[in-house]
Amino acid sequence: MFFTGHNRVFCWFFIICCVSLGQTVSKNTQIYSGHKLVKREEAFDLVKIEATFNKNEEGRGFKRRDSVPSEEKCQEKCNDDLRAGLDMVKAHTSFGSIGVPSVNDRLDLIMFCRLDSAHDECLRRCGYEVQFNMRDFVCQTHFNEMIQNQPCYQRAAAFLKRRCGERRCGPYTDLELSVVGFGNRCRTLVCDLACSRTVLLRQCGTTNGSRASRFLVDYTKAQITTWMRETSTSMHLPISQIMPSSCARIFCPRFNCSNDQTPVV
Ligand SMILES: *[C@@H]1O[C@H](CO)[C@@H](O)[C@H](O)[C@H]1NC(C)=O
Ligand SMILES: *[C@@H]1O[C@H](CO)[C@@H](O)[C@H](O)[C@H]1NC(C)=O
Repeated sequence: MFFTGHNRVFCWFFIICCVSLGQTVSKNTQIYSGHKLVKREEAFDLVKIEATFNKNEEGRGFKRRDSVPSEEKCQEKCNDDLRAGLDMVKAHTSFGSIGVPSVNDRLDLIMFCRLDSAHDECLRRCGYEVQFNMRDFVCQTHFNEMIQNQPCYQRAAAFLKRRCGERRCGPYTDLELSVVGFGNRCRTLVCDLACSRTVLLRQCGTTNGSRASRFLVDYTKAQITTWMRETSTSMHLPISQIMPSSCARIFCPRFNCSNDQTPVV
């Protein structure tokens, strides 16, 4: 988590606040992707008021009820609800470290999108402002493309799992929110994207396979762009100076830039 300033708390959500890729909670957590949250000003003030109140209570000899801020408990409840919901969504979980939700079919995608927007709504009620959510990429801006590609992903799922994923591209670790952390994640992403391209082309044919592969790449590019923009802002450095080379490769043709090609974000 990033903490900037003293009156605003920035919190990034990746896979439910850094739940590791499928190792914890439930396998369907894997289909859950990135979020960016900001605590609202009022909400923060409320915590401050509460903290002061609790301190006064202690001063008067009362025991402090709980050291965990109510917002965090509220957020935990939202995450529990989301996890419970995701358990009912069928997923093939074969995209490895790639963040695209690996939902089985149209109905599962719709269910996933509903759960995720309910989760956002729940977080808003807790006093968070959801500034950014990768879900919009699959649930809003590219919904039809995702639907179009699902039969191909479905057909290739078993092969993707066998040939790519953790065995080939792992071990996956929790995403660390730093330039080094993004660089590490991009290394597994380059591997998973290159590997899945081969499998998708073979399983779905050139036309559908390359479209399905391009979708995974486009999603990943959007995700990296967000990481870099946020990091660039918080570090006061241009993207070109902080972009790890493993991430830059994803913007190159076939994930391999020649010397005269500079990726554009
Ligand atoms: C390609 O995808 C479309 C839409 O999903 C599907 O209708 C079509 O049958 C697929 N073609 C092949 C060769 O799999
Ligand atoms: C990248 O391209 C260069 C030159 O075309 C080639 O020698 C190298 O093996 C490629 N690297 C990868 C990882 O594909």
